[in-house]
Amino acid sequence: MSKITAGITGVQGYLPEYVLTNEELSTIVDTNDEWITSRTGIKERRIMKDGASSDMATGAVEALLKKTNIAPEDVDLVILATVTPDYPFPSTANVLCDKVGMKNAWGFDLIAACSGFIYGLATGAQFIETGRYKKVIVVGVDKMSSIIDYEDRTTCVIFGDGAGAVMLEPNEEGLGVQDFILRSDGSGRNYLLQPGGGSKNPASAETVEKKMHFVKQEGKQVFKFAVTNMAEVSAEIMEKNNLTSDDVDWLVPHQANLRIIDATAKRMGLPKEKVMINIEKYGNTTAGTLPLCLWDYEKQLKKGDTLILSAFGGGFTWGAVYIKWAYNS
Ligand code: UT7
Repeated sequence: MSKITAGITGVQGYLPEYVLTNEELSTIVDTNDEWITSRTGIKERRIMKDGASSDMATGAVEALLKKTNIAPEDVDLVILATVTPDYPFPSTANVLCDKVGMKNAWGFDLIAACSGFIYGLATGAQFIETGRYKKVIVVGVDKMSSIIDYEDRTTCVIFGDGAGAVMLEPNEEGLGVQDFILRSDGSGRNYLLQPGGGSKNPASAETVEKKMHFVKQEGKQVFKFAVTNMAEVSAEIMEKNNLTSDDVDWLVPHQANLRIIDATAKRMGLPKEKVMINIEKYGNTTAGTLPLCLWDYEKQLKKGDTLILSAFGGGFTWGAVYIKWAYNS
């Protein structure tokens, strides 16, 4: 019997309607379109005015099920990557399963910041490859606006809200997830984090006053680590799998900063036409960026295409996943 691989059989995004432009941001904090565009590549981002992460995830997953013609009861497992869960507990995956009617699925949340989706994809693939499950959903969702300080110009211009989800099913043609390299280094934890609200700094009047429930980032430091590690791990997975730049059809990079994306593509020897980019429309949606890229580019993807997904985020966490696209849309 041929080896079972985990193929992506559908992808779907969900974006809230409200568009926060660079122009509008420049009326809120001391910034301008020229700075944001030249330093990050971002023009606008979406903001969820009402509702929680589970509502965006529900929007993505309901449409995914419809598109793949799969009944909610047939889903076995839901892995939901986020740093903005509805609650500390229960998990947003649990809430999502209830809202969508995935009564026979179990699920859990996964925290790996901007690397959440690739961590989730690699994890979900294991359950398919072993033959245990037939239908696994991996969601990347973040309502970053719920943890952003709109008085801090160094973070509020970068992040946005959004969700994306993929369906994983067994594939017997050898398509789907081929390999992954995942890394983490907790010594980087103080460069990018939400300091308050966990067991170290439980919510109190003091943590609120000190703005500890907002994202803190030392941008320059994170940039340095991100540029090096995302580029290196992407090159490493190519070397490990004997892939040349001609073999790779698409780089699917985390959308944190256009300069980081360009450096990664350059290290891999890939021209711009092979790089998925939508940062100008959505900014950095943390766990949402990679499935939102796949969704935006879905129509251009062909069965058998070679994709490298690559990310770097808070933790630090980073890695790359090598997949062969499993369908024509
Ligand atoms: O997704 C998870 C991982 N995160 C990342 O990968 C983010 C990595 N970091 C970055 O993308 C960049 O560091 C930022 C986009 C966050 C910042 O860009 P930078 O080129 O590193 O800028 P900087 O922090 O060195 O700041 C340069 C100048 C400073 O002014 P002075 O000190 O030179 O006078 C900042 O105060 O730009 C100023 N500045 C701004 N100016 C206008 C910072 N933010 C803004 C702003 N508008 N929004």
